[in-house]
Amino acid sequence: MARINENYLKLPGNYLFSAIGKKVREYETAHPQAKIIRLGIGDVTQPIVPAVIEALHAAVEEMGKAESFRGYAPDLGYSFLRETISEKDYKEKGCDISPEEIFISDGAKCDCGNIQEIFGLNNTIAVCDPVYPVYVDSNVMAGRTGVYIPETGQYQEVVYMPCTAENGFVPELPGTVPDLIYLCFPNNPTGAVMKKDQLQKWVDYANEHDSVILYDAAYEAYISEPDIPHSIYECTGARECAIEFRSFSKTAGFTGLRLGFTVIPRDLKTGGQELWPLWARRHGTKYNGAPYIIQRAGEAVYSEAGRKQVREQIACYMENAGLILNGLKKAGYTAYGGVNAPYIWLRTPGDMSSWEYFDRLLSTLQIVGTPGVGFGPHGEHYFRLTSFGKREDTIEAMERFTSFPA
Ligand SMILES: Cc1ncc(COP(=O)(O)O)c(C=O)c1O
Repeated sequence: MARINENYLKLPGNYLFSAIGKKVREYETAHPQAKIIRLGIGDVTQPIVPAVIEALHAAVEEMGKAESFRGYAPDLGYSFLRETISEKDYKEKGCDISPEEIFISDGAKCDCGNIQEIFGLNNTIAVCDPVYPVYVDSNVMAGRTGVYIPETGQYQEVVYMPCTAENGFVPELPGTVPDLIYLCFPNNPTGAVMKKDQLQKWVDYANEHDSVILYDAAYEAYISEPDIPHSIYECTGARECAIEFRSFSKTAGFTGLRLGFTVIPRDLKTGGQELWPLWARRHGTKYNGAPYIIQRAGEAVYSEAGRKQVREQIACYMENAGLILNGLKKAGYTAYGGVNAPYIWLRTPGDMSSWEYFDRLLSTLQIVGTPGVGFGPHGEHYFRLTSFGKREDTIEAMERFTSFPA
């Protein structure tokens, strides 16, 4: 008899965005005239920039000619892209990361979810609370978390690191030493960032305790202030303790094209074993490479024109973030983020729960956001808005907020 992986049964039902989708559909059915503005889900709305479209067309043409046709991509990615990333994202910024240490993939979600496979089941994991759900859920599926406790909204064996207004949404170093530490900065959902000296403390802690940091830098392109690291490898000693994830999704609007990468330095060892060959083996066995045309598109993001165009696109989203942040403050809300990240994290008015506020916002202003509690218990009484909407929708949403003060 075939048996299922019972760990899947530990996952509580109703994935956050399905629950939101259901509520919005029900509201739309009951109010067909309502103009709903979606500031909830983290998908981009602006089209792919011209420099990337040009590269896509050229790569498609190559695929149609016998002399330039490409079949399977190399497992770890084409060297033209790995060399470009090594140069532009790392060496130019003073980080010593070689092309060989970069693994191209179809996005950060898969990499963040799959990386746990190269670690034993007896590792403990630490995550921020609130947190991007993939880190915990992928470890639940693997059987590394113990059971879910509905009363606390937490898994028994996970080390949760509260991120609160008091600590600026940057966690304290955990008292119980975890083996694997997931960090994501700029943060989804809070929009918080870590300064370089703060991140250095985590790197020192990981090296001191032989922990590995899994650093999700999917939003590094949104950093606007100085002294905030774009990569964990800006910190001394990070090559010995950290893996970094990057994505083209929010950097260049590739949510539909799909491209990302993971960095595993050759110096990173645990129990004397290098991690690089394990991930290379996993990649080679379970993955057949991101498409050639998409990797060419990724390369074009780093061209002079590509860089300028994506910078303008990000600036436009960050103007939306500014509009949201100022609009909320004017309406009397306490709100965070939105300066180095596309996310705005607002405190719900009064003592309203995140879901209560979701319902109120939908029914009174026809605006959709994301209840903070969906990212973890410390997200209760918070609410996430994103700056990825269209400008006119963002402006209209903030006008509606003026009639709904905190
Ligand atoms: C923190 C974080 N990491 C990773 C991802 C996924 O990125 P990708 O589209 O490359 O899979 C997201 C997407 O929302 C995210 O918020």
